[in-house]
Parts: sequence; structure tokens; C-alpha cells
Amino acid sequence: MMSGTSVDAIDAALVEFSVQGATLSARVVGFREMSMPDALREELLSVLPGGSGDVERGGPAQWCRLDTDMGQAYARAAVAALKELGPADLVSMHGQTLFHWVEGGVTRGSLQIGNPAWVAEATGLPVVSDLRSADIAAGGQGAPLASTLDALWLRGSQSAALNLGGIANLTLVDGRRVLCGDTGPANCLMDALAMREFGLPHDAEGRIAASGAVDHGALEALIADPYFAQPMPKSTGREYFHLGWLSDRLAGIGPLSPTDLMATVAELTARSVADALARARAEGWAIERLVASGGGTKNPVLMRRLEALSGIQCARSDQLGVPSQAKESVLFALLGWLAVHGLSGTVSGTEGPVTGARATRVLGSLTPATPLNCSPPTLAPPTHAPPTHEPLNVSHMTELAELVIVREDT
Ligand SMILES: Nc1ncnc2c1ncn2[C@@H]1O[C@H](COP(=O)(O)OP(=O)(O)O)[C@@H](O)[C@H]1O
Ligand SMILES: [Mg+2]
Repeated sequence: MMSGTSVDAIDAALVEFSVQGATLSARVVGFREMSMPDALREELLSVLPGGSGDVERGGPAQWCRLDTDMGQAYARAAVAALKELGPADLVSMHGQTLFHWVEGGVTRGSLQIGNPAWVAEATGLPVVSDLRSADIAAGGQGAPLASTLDALWLRGSQSAALNLGGIANLTLVDGRRVLCGDTGPANCLMDALAMREFGLPHDAEGRIAASGAVDHGALEALIADPYFAQPMPKSTGREYFHLGWLSDRLAGIGPLSPTDLMATVAELTARSVADALARARAEGWAIERLVASGGGTKNPVLMRRLEALSGIQCARSDQLGVPSQAKESVLFALLGWLAVHGLSGTVSGTEGPVTGARATRVLGSLTPATPLNCSPPTLAPPTHAPPTHEPLNVSHMTELAELVIVREDT
């Protein structure tokens, strides 16, 4: 389960794993999303960096309350997912990032809230959470974790995987080389503008952007931010890209209409990804296809501009067996599976772990659960047979060679 920087929903995927040799197969049984309760979303957006509250001043009482509220929201999402999709052996959850602490280019901490005890209590299942801290303690950025799924899944090909959530995350895979990083904002600035200017949670189907025109002076002022030119690996978040950043960058540029501003910010997302792809190609990365996922794939303006500026045809991850809305929840299912089997949750490219850590690490914290003898009372009798397989023996493995996504049509 995952809730990203957009704070729009808790996404859950049920994934069935099996092992053969050093190859892990994953089948996405199904996925569902549970909209974030309005009050919780509003309060979170206010305490998150760039919100009306201030994460550095918000008190422990508020964070404690949010940790419980989010834990309970995850518990409801888990119970609903198990009811709808079928039983599971383990829950793995990212939680909601409250703060990702980067100072002087070094990541010092990353706090995800959503207390896992509520999930363990509601489901009777063990829960893996806190999937970033071990990598940070080993000198890594605790991000981007998407590289684990992308590298194992696309290994051997020449691909770029792009997730367009609140932030845009790009993984390059070229044979055994892997490079991953956040290129900058994907939807977070567009969402914030949609709310401020139109009272809408997002620019549905990119209609607002389509009705405006890109202001090229403003675009150049935005893209001149040094973050965009920084080489990967790099990670960022709402701590950096928020409406305050936008108005600071645009100080001195004449006022833009709300629709032109939206068009310009959409173009910024497409441009920053296209620039990162162009730089990678200039550095010798072969990129034959772009595999896109995340809510931003529903914005045709963004997708059109991305293809036009990069000159690379965009495939949706759905075409490769990973539903684009569920890609990140599939990732966290994979990280949970790796954690309980004692396998590292980060991967190495040719130059060491892609997160910048000293070495790859087994990730996560485990909340052991008291198994419920029967389905929790809130659950209908399972529609699928409960899992009967023996625990998988992975003692022969030190690390995975690859991940095969099992598609329904194969
Ligand atoms: N129909 C749509 N049209 C345009 N954008 C959309 C649409 N549906 C979702 N989005 C965008 O996708 C975002 C959610 O994407 P998601 O991949 O869940 O991001 P995150 O991982 O940050 O939660 C929304 O906040 C919104 O910006
Ligand atoms: Mg989301």
C-alpha cells in the first residue's frame, strides 16, 4: 500500500509472488484505491511543507494524531483491499511522508506516518513499514525506491521508466546499468494551482492547461532552477517544489493568467523530464522506450508534450503487466516481500547502490501480528481460497537476478 506526495488516495495492490532459481515472478492479482478522507487530506496538506501550516512548528500532539488517523486510514484501505481482492500473507505499507530531510545534499531522515499497528490489528497480518530508514542509515538517500522494481523488471532492456505522481521519478535501465532520480515536479504544482485558482483537486484531463498558452519567459525562469540541471541520482519533494517556489521563481515576470500558468507548469513537467532524458542520451544511455505510470498519465496535455519534447514514444506500464495506477503499490508489495525474505530492497547498478548508500540493505521494520484464527469480523468470507503454499525457500539467494511480471494474457 502506498500514498504518495499527491495525498489523493491510498493505493493497494495484491501481488502474488513465486520464485524459480534467482527469478522472482509477480502477478498483480488486482488493485484498488481508497480516496484519502477529505479532512485528513486537508490537514496533511496544511502541515506538509508549502502548506498553510508549518511542519517545523506543528506540534507533537498534531503529529501523533495524524499518525493514528493515517494508520487507521491505511487499516481501512487494507481491510477493503483484502475483502475485494482476496487474502494475503503480509501487508507492506509505505505510509505518508511527512518530511524528507535533506541537508547539504545528504539525506538525514525521512518520516512516514501511518502507524502500522492499526493495520496489523485490523487485518491480523504482519506489516512491513518504514522502508526508507535502513538505506538512509547506510548513507543512501532512502530514495528513489522505484529503482528496485524498475531495475529488476526492466533489466537487460534499454528502457526509461517514468512515474508521474506528485513528483516525477525516472529510472534508466540499459543492460545492467541503472540510474534513478526525481526529475522534479510532476503533478504537485499543477494540483496546488488547480486548488488555489479553481478550487479543484487537480486539472482533470489537462483541460485547464489545454485552454491556456505556455509563457516561454516564465518557463525559462522556472527551468533555470539549479535542481533541474543536477545530475541523477537526486531526490526531491514538496519540501522544495511548492507554490512558494513558483512565485519566488516568477518574481519579476509579469502576472500570468491562471490558465497560462497551468499550461506553463504542465510544460515544465514535460520539459524537465525531456531534458533529463536528453542528458542521459548524451551521456551514452540507450533509451528505446519510455514506460510511464502514475496519475499524470491521465493528463493528455502532459503526455503529448512529453512525447513531442523527448521524441520517445510513451508506453503505459499497463502494457507490460503493471497497471499504471498501481505501479507504486506493486513496488511496495515487492519491497515487503524482499524484507521478510531477508533480501536487500535496494539494487546496485554498475557504480554501486542506486540510492548512493554504502551497500544495499534489507529494508523495513516489521510489526508482527497476532494471527486472527478467522477472517476479521468485518470481512466477508474470502472469495478466493486462502493461500496454502509453503513459505518460499530463498536460502539459495543472496540477491534477485530479475523480476518477471506475469501478465494475464500470457
Ligand atoms: N483524470 C485526471 N486528469 C489529470 N490528472 C489526474 C487525473 N487523475 C489523477 N490525476 C493526477 O494524478 C495525481 C495522483 O497521481 P498518483 O500517481 O496517485 O500520485 P502520488 O503517488 O503522488 O499519490 C493527482 O493528484 C492528479 O494530479
Ligand atoms: Mg496517489
